[in-house]
Amino acid sequence: MRTNIIHEGADELSYEIRGIVAFAEKLGTLGVPIVWENIGDPIAKGEHIAPWIKDIIAEHTKTDVCFGYTPTKGVLATRHYIAQSRKKESGVTLSPDDILFFNGLGDAISVVYTYLRRSARIIGPSPAYPTHSSAEAAHAGAAHITYHLDPHRNWLPDIEDIRNKVKYNPSVAGILIINPDNPTGMVYPRKVLEQIVAIARTHGLFLIADETYARLAYEPKEFTPLYDVLGSDVPAIVMRGLSKEVPWPGSRCGWIEVYNKDIDADFARYVKTLNDAKMLEVCATALPQHVLPAILGDERYDHTVASRVAQYATRADRAYKAFASIPGVMAPRPEGAFYYSVVFDDLPENGTLPIKDDTVRREVEHAVMGVTADKRFAHYLIGATGIVVVPLSGFNTDLVGFRMTLLETDDAQFDDIVEKIREAIVMYRASVK
Ligand SMILES: Cc1ncc(COP(=O)(O)O)c(C=O)c1O
Repeated sequence: MRTNIIHEGADELSYEIRGIVAFAEKLGTLGVPIVWENIGDPIAKGEHIAPWIKDIIAEHTKTDVCFGYTPTKGVLATRHYIAQSRKKESGVTLSPDDILFFNGLGDAISVVYTYLRRSARIIGPSPAYPTHSSAEAAHAGAAHITYHLDPHRNWLPDIEDIRNKVKYNPSVAGILIINPDNPTGMVYPRKVLEQIVAIARTHGLFLIADETYARLAYEPKEFTPLYDVLGSDVPAIVMRGLSKEVPWPGSRCGWIEVYNKDIDADFARYVKTLNDAKMLEVCATALPQHVLPAILGDERYDHTVASRVAQYATRADRAYKAFASIPGVMAPRPEGAFYYSVVFDDLPENGTLPIKDDTVRREVEHAVMGVTADKRFAHYLIGATGIVVVPLSGFNTDLVGFRMTLLETDDAQFDDIVEKIREAIVMYRASVK
C-alpha cells in the first residue's frame, strides 16, 4: 500500500474466548469429543427460555411495528420503562433521553471507546473482559491500563492501585467497573464502589459500569448498582443488556444509561458524539426493544431469573469444593455471573497430560510451541479431555490460570467436567516432578 492502512491499535484486538475455538474444532475432527466451556452463552449450554417469555415474543412478532426502524436512541416507551424502573428501584432520576440502545453491549463497548478522544484513557480491571480491554487499547493504540483484582482477597480490587494509577497518570479520564465481574464472578462491595466513586470525584473522572450481570448476583442484596452510590456530581455510563439475564444473547440488545451528563460540558459533548455515531447507524435491533418492558415487567420474571441464579450458585459451590482444596491453586468462589476463574501459584513451563491418540498429541505439541504457560495447559486439557476452557492470560493479566463456565445444565456432566479438570490440574503439575 502506498500509505499505511494498518490501524494503530490493530495488534491490541484479541479475544481468546473464541480464539481457542479453531484449535478445538480441529481436534473435534480428529475424534476428540469437545466440551465447550469457553463461551458465556447459556443457550449453547442447554438452558431453555421460559415458555411465557417465548409467548410474549411470539405475540410481538404479530405486530408490524417490530419490523420497522426505531428512533435512534431506542423505542421511547421502552426507555420510559427503564427510567421508571430506576426510579422505583433506587429513587434515582434517569431521563429517557439519557438512554441509548445498541446491538448488544459488544456494540456499545466498541462505540464508547472508539469515540473517546485518543489520548483519554479508561483504566479497567485485570483480569479483564477482553471486549473492553481490547477496544480501549485499540482506541488508544497502546496497552490497556489496568488495576488489580486480587485472587488472594476474593478478587477484590486493589483500591490503592487504582488511586496511584489515577493520580500519576493524567491521561486517565475514567474508571471501568464490571459488576458482577467477568471472568472472576466478583461482586463489588458497596464500600469499594463508594471508594471508586470518591476517586473519580477527586480527580474529575467519569465511570463506566458494565452491569450486564446485574441480576445474576447469587445474593441479590450484595449487588449495588452504580447509580445507588454515584451521587449527583460524578458522570457515569451504566451498561445493561438482555443477553445474560433473559437469557437472550442472540437478541443483540444492550443499552447505556447516562447519569449526571450535564454536570460536565466535555462529558455531555462526548455523550452527544455517541448519539451521533448511533444516528449514522440508524438504530439498534427493534424486536427485543419492543418486548423488553413486557418481559422484564412481568410478575414471573423475578422467579425465572432467581431460579437460574440459584443453579449457578449451586454449581459455584460444587466447583469450589473441587478446586479450592488443590494445593497451589487459588479458586475464590464466584459471587455472581456464571464463570469460574482458577489461578495457579505456579504452572510448570513444560507440563503435559497423557494423550493416547498420536495424531491428537502431535497437534497439541505443535500448537503449544512458544505459548504462555496457561495456554499450554488449556491446549493439553483439550487434547486429553476435550474440555475447552479459556487461559486466564487471554484476560489481560499476568496471572496464570483458566476460566470455565457454570452453565452446564446437566448436573452429572457438570460434576464430570469439574472432576476431569481437577484431575488434569493435579496430573499436569505432577508431570514434570
Ligand atoms: C462483561 C460483559 N460485557 C458485555 C458483554 C457482551 O454482551 P452482549 O454483546 O451480548 O450484550 C459480555 C459478554 O460476555 C460480558 O461478559
